[in-house]
Amino acid sequence: MNFRTIIEPFRIKSVESVKFTRREDREAALREAGFNVFRLRADDVLIDLLTDSGTGAMSAAQWSAVMQADESYAGSRSFYRFEAVVKDLTGFSHIIPTHQGRAAERILFHTILQPGQIVPNNNHFDTTRANIEVEQVEALDLVIPEGRVPHLIHPFKGNIDLAALERLLAERGDLVPLVMVTVTNNSGGGQPVSLENLRGVRTICDRHSKPFFLDACRFAENAWFIKLREPGQSGRTPKAIAREMFALADGCTMSAKKDGLANIGGFLAMNNAEWAEAARNLLILTEGFPTYGGLAGYDLEAVARGLEEVVEEDYLRYRIRSTEYLGEKLIAADVPIIRPPGGHAIYLDARALLPHVPPVQYPGISLANQLYVEAGIRGVEIGTVMFGLHPDGTETPGAMDLVRLAIPRRVYTQSHIDYVAEAVIAVAQSRQQLRGYRIVSAPKTLRHFTAIFEPLA
Ligand SMILES: Cc1ncc(COP(=O)(O)O)c(C=O)c1O
Repeated sequence: MNFRTIIEPFRIKSVESVKFTRREDREAALREAGFNVFRLRADDVLIDLLTDSGTGAMSAAQWSAVMQADESYAGSRSFYRFEAVVKDLTGFSHIIPTHQGRAAERILFHTILQPGQIVPNNNHFDTTRANIEVEQVEALDLVIPEGRVPHLIHPFKGNIDLAALERLLAERGDLVPLVMVTVTNNSGGGQPVSLENLRGVRTICDRHSKPFFLDACRFAENAWFIKLREPGQSGRTPKAIAREMFALADGCTMSAKKDGLANIGGFLAMNNAEWAEAARNLLILTEGFPTYGGLAGYDLEAVARGLEEVVEEDYLRYRIRSTEYLGEKLIAADVPIIRPPGGHAIYLDARALLPHVPPVQYPGISLANQLYVEAGIRGVEIGTVMFGLHPDGTETPGAMDLVRLAIPRRVYTQSHIDYVAEAVIAVAQSRQQLRGYRIVSAPKTLRHFTAIFEPLA
């Protein structure tokens, strides 16, 4: 018999209570937080969909690996286990642990970039963009045109525009030190990149003798989409597909807080021995010795085990289906979202939902704040606040104004997700009452984390 219901592929051994608050408590908490949900105390949040990064639940096997860890400063057994798992998965020769993804980015970019250069990507994530721009280098987004249209259905909306990449390398290739592709494409809606597209990037990079790096945070979710959607891939295991994705690249940056199923950790991996040597020297300066890179031995163990669990088919089937389930409920109620639903999150199209709030009055902030006040749900704006401020101080609307509801791995059950759907639909129905915001104060880079807002009258 075939049953349609896809259940959580685990049972729960340890639970954490969530706190129920009243609407007036949440209004006060949000005011106190400068109308920026990043500044809330997590205890005041009922369902926290701020990020899927580092918020997952570890398995019993991971916790037991934690207890087995070796905390030696140099040459720890846990490092060799971590290194073996990462090498087995990625095939890269040099594995450099870092405390999280952005440390891998900073070390890579600070090691190889020169001012005035250009780094193309499908869409740079915020930390990737910031770590490139701080080196006075342009972070160029070349996602396919379909990837910029929220309601448009395409199986691989994260694909990079191969013709635009070819043109860039033909015309200004001397300024491009490497090509990056983010899998899945977080800033573009958690959308996957096809193997065919990655093969195309490889061919173009070979033609122009350019290294190709993956931003691999959600490599397993991307591999699952390839299995589901790419012709000829359905019979392969997610691990075999992931291995091919990595084999097409020369290196990767990785935040193990996502598909490493760990609460902290990351790595930089590559085949170029010279770059790896320079990266390890910088690592020692800022992260730690090359066999721990800012992590405890127990973190390395948790990541090693997490990378094995994340490619399990039962896990990935449940993971991608839970996101799709929320997406289907919202689509059925005519709530505009990025379609099709991405891997780790649902992205509400705040610009489409709130046409009366102009982008520079931050519709994403307005929607995220209302979701918190009405239901205690915390999402995050991905739009004009996150991407609209330029290094020269000017501000333009972001490509889209979205609210991302990121789903932590193995944390919430189907009834939590049902509650989220009900709340989003209720807020969408009261859209006319939502107003824009203005920024009272903000730092010059990564302003979304700490900016203080004020509602407009
Ligand atoms: C695509 C992508 N790249 C890089 C990062 C940075 O990773 P970390 O938060 O571990 O520094 C993130 C984190 O959200 C991400 O989603």
